[in-house]
Amino acid sequence: MQLIYLPQSLDARSSYGVRAFRSHFARPVVFVPRRPRLPLLSVKAAKDPSGPKVAIAGISGAVGQEFIRVLTERNFPYSEIKMLASSRSAGKEVEFDGETYVIEELTEDSFDGVDISLFSAGGSISKKFAPIAAAKGCFVVDNSSAFRMADGVPLVIPEVNPEAMADYKLGKKKGGIIANPNCSTIIALMAVTPIHRAVGVKRMIASTYQAASGAGALAMAELEQQTRDVLNNDPVTMNIFSWQYAFNLFSHNSPMTENGYNEEEMKMVKETAKIWGTDAVSIAATCIRVPVMRAHAESINLTLCSELDEQDAKAILSKAPGISIIDDRANNRFPTPLDASNKDDVFVGRIRQDISQPGKSGLEIFVCGDQIKKGAALNAVQIAELIL
Ligand SMILES: NC(=O)c1ccc[n+]([C@@H]2O[C@H](COP(=O)([O-])OP(=O)(O)OC[C@H]3O[C@@H](n4cnc5c(N)ncnc54)[C@H](OP(=O)(O)O)[C@@H]3O)[C@@H](O)[C@H]2O)c1
Repeated sequence: MQLIYLPQSLDARSSYGVRAFRSHFARPVVFVPRRPRLPLLSVKAAKDPSGPKVAIAGISGAVGQEFIRVLTERNFPYSEIKMLASSRSAGKEVEFDGETYVIEELTEDSFDGVDISLFSAGGSISKKFAPIAAAKGCFVVDNSSAFRMADGVPLVIPEVNPEAMADYKLGKKKGGIIANPNCSTIIALMAVTPIHRAVGVKRMIASTYQAASGAGALAMAELEQQTRDVLNNDPVTMNIFSWQYAFNLFSHNSPMTENGYNEEEMKMVKETAKIWGTDAVSIAATCIRVPVMRAHAESINLTLCSELDEQDAKAILSKAPGISIIDDRANNRFPTPLDASNKDDVFVGRIRQDISQPGKSGLEIFVCGDQIKKGAALNAVQIAELIL
């Protein structure tokens, strides 16, 4: 029997351990919480009889738990809220805004009378249930990739293209699906769009350094277990990934496509074109998993349509919504994933002229953003705010 310790960065409130036990491990394992098992997160939000009826599909997951943190941080108004997950979590309790909610199994009837649903239960669940919910007059904000590239489905970063969902308003339209972009796309475009708006971006090359939590809690558990294995001189445990993760890095685990780019890389290419509304910008990405628990980092190289001085780029970024600058050359202090963890903002630094491009036509930046927060839950709740 193998013991897998839950990572400290993932508290014992999630249901990952149970799911892992059931389905994800080839060999029998026991998940060992590091802390006593706590009830699911208890938070305050803004209950208001005139607010919308809300549902969260995937409440027991990493993004689902982040949803309720973000809803309360932003005082999101609601009159009623439903907590939905699979039959595995049905019956468990969630504390939210001083009340106890029993998690219900997500079914076709779950969305009767619901105004806004936040979906984070994976692509296949979204494909099946989001159209059912929308047909019942519900606005679905979907975190999966199921509808991102679908015609007629807005793909929205509220700081970048809120106009794409101008018609999606309670009382104006009767339900619909709005897609949340891929986390790496959101983090990149938060920083690059202000530059694009100012001088135009002709070409963007992104190299990502992506955290374990983007692949779920089981990946976090594996990273922590492998770290212990290596330090103890034991054989490394490999259940989630096919490669050693601790003290290593590897190409993103999403499926490879025919052109030699993996799906994560192609999401950045295709989603950026949809969000910016143009195919005219040349984009390529290399996506890498690094042994970091939370928050993605990206090195981004830009070729600009007209020249931009690095100081002017810094000034543009310092005024951009949702951006914080850490760019202290004297002290070699630039953004790190730890700076970005649990923060709303995307952090930008290493703002410098690309010396390989003529004049001031090239720019290099380094960005870090919390992919569970701005890359998922926060962006989705901001979209829901636009629906109100
Ligand atoms: N993690 C990230 O950083 C991140 C970032 C951006 C987007 N996303 C996307 O967000 C989604 C969720 O990611 P996550 O990391 O939160 O995953 P997760 O931790 O594995 O959570 C998955 C959630 O889906 C629920 N679920 C699974 N099967 C279900 C079913 N048959 N019926 C109803 N609910 C079901 C699970 O419920 P049970 O607990 O009951 O199984 C759980 O609540 C994915 O589409 C992912 O691609 C994730």
